[in-house]
Order: sequence, then structure tokens, then C-alpha cells
Amino acid sequence: MFDISTITEQQAKEELERIAKEIAKSDTAYYQNDMPYLTDAEYDKLKHLNAEIEKKFPHLIREDSPSKRIGAPLQSGFGKVSHRFPMLSLGDVFSIEEVEDFINGIKRFLNTEKDIPFLCEPKIDGLSFTARYEKGAFVQGATRGDGSVGEDITENLRTISQLPQKIEGSVPDVLEVRGEVYMSKADFLALNQKNETEGKKVFANPRNAAAGSLRQLNAQITKERNLSIFAYTWGEVSERLWTTQEEFFNHLKNWGFPVNPNNTLCPTIADIETFFQNLMEIRAGLAYDIDGVVYKVNDIALQERLGFLTRTPRWAIAHKFPAEQAVTTINNIRIQVGRTGALTPVADLEPVNVGGVIVSHATLHNEDEIRRKDIRIGDSVIIQRAGDVIPQIVSVIKEKRPIDSVDFVFPEICPQCGAHAIREEDEAVRRCTGGLTCPAQAIERLKHFVSRDAMDIEGLGSKIIEDFYNEGIIKSPVDIFTLEERNSGNEYDLFNQNQGLQLEKREGWGRKSVENLFSAIKSRKNISLPKFIYALGIRQVGTATARLIAQNFNTWNNFAQDMILQETEKLISIDGIGEAMAKDIVEFFQEKHNIQTIEQLKKYINIEDFADKINYETQLSGKTVVFTGTLTQMTRAEAKAKALAAGAKVAGSVSKSTDYVIIGADAGSKATKAAELGINIISEDDFLKMLI
Ligand code: IVH
Repeated sequence: MFDISTITEQQAKEELERIAKEIAKSDTAYYQNDMPYLTDAEYDKLKHLNAEIEKKFPHLIREDSPSKRIGAPLQSGFGKVSHRFPMLSLGDVFSIEEVEDFINGIKRFLNTEKDIPFLCEPKIDGLSFTARYEKGAFVQGATRGDGSVGEDITENLRTISQLPQKIEGSVPDVLEVRGEVYMSKADFLALNQKNETEGKKVFANPRNAAAGSLRQLNAQITKERNLSIFAYTWGEVSERLWTTQEEFFNHLKNWGFPVNPNNTLCPTIADIETFFQNLMEIRAGLAYDIDGVVYKVNDIALQERLGFLTRTPRWAIAHKFPAEQAVTTINNIRIQVGRTGALTPVADLEPVNVGGVIVSHATLHNEDEIRRKDIRIGDSVIIQRAGDVIPQIVSVIKEKRPIDSVDFVFPEICPQCGAHAIREEDEAVRRCTGGLTCPAQAIERLKHFVSRDAMDIEGLGSKIIEDFYNEGIIKSPVDIFTLEERNSGNEYDLFNQNQGLQLEKREGWGRKSVENLFSAIKSRKNISLPKFIYALGIRQVGTATARLIAQNFNTWNNFAQDMILQETEKLISIDGIGEAMAKDIVEFFQEKHNIQTIEQLKKYINIEDFADKINYETQLSGKTVVFTGTLTQMTRAEAKAKALAAGAKVAGSVSKSTDYVIIGADAGSKATKAAELGINIISEDDFLKMLI
């Protein structure tokens, strides 16, 4: 290197040229190929050097100087967009029997025997988008993100020629059109071919290529890729001009959106089955990848009656194409220790291509499963993967079993920490008893804590959590919130030579990535009650249960106090929480360490009370109701959903805290108990009136 103070003009010229090229190359690698090759620190250093030289020799500033690039892609990523109406996902089924179950469930819910017409659509294998139009003009585009908050990709979507910039005719003032962005098979092959000859990144499949092309900070790059769209649903609308899914598609077509030509209205289950079979047959010949079929109740009034589960509608489902299979051999079987201490056997496989994805591991579930399928190390096996599901072993090909195949002996000691691993009666899994002294459990709990449905801290990926745990940087969730403070150290503490963690000096890190991490952590200091409860990683408590708890207890303190006092009954009385789950929840709160950790955490975070998500305010909001007897105008499930949507809590049994008991025909002991306790007993009609 040279000394900047003595640099000659010729040297400066050469150096500026080198830096411009290097930065351009790095930008391409980072933004275009999702593959950074300079660390943030190296990148910053180059830019700094460029600025220094330019200051000294202003007349040498190049046309393509990195300092001149206007609108250069931001390192900090995309802006965020809150979805006024969440972008939901769909439940999955894999067989026609499951589709029938789904349809029968809908009929039961609606208490009808009649056929319900479904709009059947190919499930496009791309990424979902939402496009907002105000007075017919495209104003904002976003990705799905976590369903509530997505990334602002307005400029990227603008470059897709199939997306109308302006829509005319009869258009609601506010209209959000949602659909899928995809790359056709032909465009994918062409892009990969081009990238390969230019030595750039080759994408694994059209979906990845579409994602990599759409999520470009520099929209110019999106424009150069050929992306396509299909529109299939809506978000916020100021006036819904359609009453069926089919009518909506007609509007979409009139407004100029591409709508999949295979979408078909199917009046009966037989029609649905035919549609599925046909689509499977034409699948390979389609210009784009599809991974199944989506069935949606056509009538929107029925959709509204059916409503939603936590993240999926009750009125739609995805029927995935059958799993793809392949044959390979088991090289080894090892044990993974999960968040709750469960020991899961995993097979290391000879890598094999299954439907376009290289698979090298498969889950073996538990020790009984290994015995049942008689799986040994060295065996040839049929494996399958379906969608994003972890690959599984279907069966062993016994004829191919080598003589030296080895039986797997399931350990009774945790391979990670050496504590006893015990299997409780009636349990299929064996669990490590080491708790948080077991590094594997501690690491998995941390990973869960920061995961998307929990605290959702971007920048703390699996690898980083593992490294930080092993180096003692983050041992408990609390350490995440003291990270920034510990990073800079204390320059006056000369005695201890406390230099701080200096994360920016880690390999592959830089000032920018550290700042991004700290701001991601800060942005999570206010956390919703359901997310926080889920983040705790209590056994059996998933997102739906966490939400139920939040809805019933409203505040963290209410919940925690009752749990510490072992008020198991309060949990069991919630419709949807059973005894086993209640036991796990209460046990979690009897563990001193858990309480201490939460107490410390509360110094850094604010757990918001649960107030939102009530669709509208009614006389029932905040009240606890119990249903008993046979309802005549709606099914029990529908009544429950209506009550929840109106902000009520639905309990399974009558107690002092019940506000209303709604009685149908032949009401039994619950009605008697309500009368004894002096609780309001109301009819189905009264209930319906109170919902308005
Ligand atoms: S409807 C509330 N229709 O599948 C219903 N989704 O697993 C919202 N997808 O996130 C989705 N083709 O990205 C719908 N014809 C189609 C679809 C489709 C593909 C994707 C979409 C969604 C995911 C759900």
C-alpha cells in the first residue's frame, strides 16, 4: 500500500479506477447475486479511501465513482409496510381424503348438507405480493413478510410490465390486489445460462430466482429479469364490488391483471377431484412451476361466515402434489437435541436429488419409529419430501441390506451434555434432563426466542446464536438486550482492560451489520403479549395457544401471577387448552430459573397488553361466555368463532368468572350450574343480538 500523503497523481488515478471497479463488482455480488464477497468493513474502507483520494485530486473524480452514485442501493434494506389486512398463508393437505375432510368440516361448520362450490386454482410456486391502488393509481407494493409486516417493494413491482400502473373503469378508491410473482421456466433457464457464462450465481429453481430478482434494492436489476405475475385475491378494499371469487376474477381481468387461465369453478367434490387430476397431467407442460391446487369457497358471504384460524382461512386450503421420492443409503444416524430436550434421531444420507432439491438428511422421529421401520446404518432407503416438510424415510429396501449393516442403539444419556435422557410413560420421545445446563437445549431455546413468530430479531440467525453461545457472548435471552452496552467496553476500566465485545471486528462483520443488529434488537423492545408468551418456548405452546392465553388473560401480570400460583383450572377452563398442556404451562412457571430470566428481561422490554385483534367492539368484548346445548341457527364452531371475533373469551366450563351462558336445546348440567351461581343465562337469539 502507499501513503495517502505522498501519493502521486498517476497512482491516484490508478487507485480510483481500481476502487470503482472493486465496489461495482462487490455491489453486483451483493445486490444481484445475494452473495457478498467483501465484508462490510472492507467495503467501508474502500469507500473511505476513495473519498480521501478524491479530496486530494478533485479533478480525477471518475464518472463512475462510488461517491457519485445517486440512489445507490441502501445497505439497510427495504422499508417496512404494515398490512392493514394480514397476508395469510394456507393450510396444506396431501390427499383427496384430506380434501374431503376439509370440505365436510366446512359443511359441519355451516350446518349444511348442500354442495359448496369451490373456485379451484393452480398454486403458483413463487412469492406473494400485494399492490395497493388509490383512485386507480398504483401507489405501494409489498412482500408478505411475516404476514403482518412486509417489505416495501413498490419500485421493484413497478418494473413488472404485467402489473397495471393505472386501472380504469369501476374501481374502488382503495384496492389492494394480491397475487404471486414468479419467473417462467424459460426465463429461469435463460437467466441461469447467462449467469453461468458470466460467472455469476446460478439459482436452484425458478422460485429462488424470482425471489432473488424481486428483492433487489436496486430496482433496475429487477427490471432486467423477466418477472411475471398472477393476481388471485384482495386485501383492503373501500368497496367490495363482487360477491364471489369468480366475479372478482372477472373484475381483475377487466382491470388488466393476469389471471390464471386454468382457474375453474367446481360445484362438487367430483369436479374438484377431476380438476386436480387434470392439473397434475398438464403440470409439466405449463410455462411456470406450480406445486399444487388452491381451493377457495366461491361465495364470499360464506367465506365471511367461515372466517379464519390463527394464520389461515377456514374457507381455503392448498392441496399439494404428492411427495417426490428417491432411493439412497443411510451413512450414519445421529441424535439431535431440541429446545425441550427431545432427542431426535436424524439420518445422514448419501446426498440425492429429490424433485430438484439435494437432500442429505432425513428425520427418523423417535426410537419406536426406527424399530418399526427396522432402519439400520448402511441400509438403502426410499426417502420423500413434500413441500417444505423435512425429508422422511418411507421404507427400507430389505433386499438391498448389506451384511455389515449396523443396528442403531438409542442412547440413554444426552450426547450433548451427558445428563440422563429419560422416556416418560406414554411418551414417544426420550428427553435430556439437563435443562438449560445442556448447551443444545440452551441454544435451541435462544433460537426459538429470536425466531420470526417469537421476538422476531432479524440478524440473529442460527449460526450467530451458536457462535455467540459458545463464546459466552449470549447465554440467556437477557444477554441479547445488553449486547450493545457490552459491545463498546469501558475505556476507563484500564485495570480490567475491558475493551468490549467489539463485534464489528468479527470476521465477516462490519460497523453497518453491527448497527443493523442493534437496531433490530431495539425495535423489539415493545413486544405483543402473544409473541412474548410464544417466545418463552413452553412445551406444547405454539402460536395459536399463545394467542388464546393472551386473549384470556389480557396482561402479562395476570397470566404470570396465576401461573405462579398454580391456577391450573383457569387454563383448563379455556376452550382449546387441555389438561396436559395446562400442566406443562404451570410447570414452566414453577422453575425458578425461568421466573428469574423473565424478571430480568422485563427490565429491558415492555410486554404490551393484549387489546387489539378484536374485530369490533360489542357488548361481549372482554366477557367470558360458555356455550351449552344444541344451537339451532349455527354450529358450535361458528358460534365460538363469532364470539372470539367480537372480543369475548370462550370457556369450556361454567365458573364464577363466567359472564354469560348461552343455552341451546337440551342444555344440561352447565345450565343448572349457571343458575346456581346466578350467572346470566341467555338464548341463542340474545347472543346474536349482542354481537351487533
Ligand atoms: S390465496 C387467504 N391463491 O400460496 C388466501 N395463494 O400457502 C391467500 N399461492 O402465501 C392465498 N398460488 O404465496 C392463493 N392461487 C393462489 C395461490 C396462492 C400460490 C401462495 C401464496 C400464499 C401461499 C399459501
